[in-house]
Amino acid sequence: MALDINPSILSADFANLESELAAISSADSVHVDVMDGHFVPNLTIGPPVVKRLAEVAPIPLDVHLMIERADADAVSYAEAGARSVTFHAEASSAPVRLAREIRAAGARAAIALRPATPIEPYIDLLAEFDMVLIMTVEPGFGGQSFLDTMLPKIGRTRKAVTDAGLDVRIQVDGGITASTIGRAAEAGADVFVAGSAVYGRDDPAAAIESLRRAAAI
Ligand code: DX5
Ligand code: ZN
Repeated sequence: MALDINPSILSADFANLESELAAISSADSVHVDVMDGHFVPNLTIGPPVVKRLAEVAPIPLDVHLMIERADADAVSYAEAGARSVTFHAEASSAPVRLAREIRAAGARAAIALRPATPIEPYIDLLAEFDMVLIMTVEPGFGGQSFLDTMLPKIGRTRKAVTDAGLDVRIQVDGGITASTIGRAAEAGADVFVAGSAVYGRDDPAAAIESLRRAAAI
């Protein structure tokens, strides 16, 4: 199974994003956290900045929307050039319709679950998505501790994907470090977001390599 490492620019220097993107060109995608100050108590960037990032990034954009108006605004991130657009289950009243709109706009569609949101209501809908994001912290900030209590949910999601014979990626986001990534991989995750564990290090490229080694199971 291919394992992807997607550094999160939430922990990068926002005044130097082009060089921060160049520093992680050995990663698989760059994770872009969009926060609206309502769905989470933090505020980051919107479509015009995402569009410029897509133009200058050496690798594809994996956009994680932590916004209340997912149904209204998610498609604009696909149009801005994101390879994948992830919206939160808790923020969408019509996740199947929204996933289809994102795919129709040319991006991959993914659904994210906060720690208290179960996977079970979405199991019959998995074919509508290219990826499921299982949050391993409460969304909003970088640098929090990995929630080991999410491991069973990762395992149930992997089993559901395998049982259905689908090719749906399982992403984890929050608290991923060289010490936690192995447990997430063993539980069934195959796409790993890491903010502070990459950009908090002096050598982001070396940090990506050490995450790859620690994820290989
Ligand atoms: C948190 C964001 C994450 C964040 C992860 O709400 O969704 O992508 O950047 O940061 P770390 O890896 O430091 O936990
Ligand atoms: Zn994120």
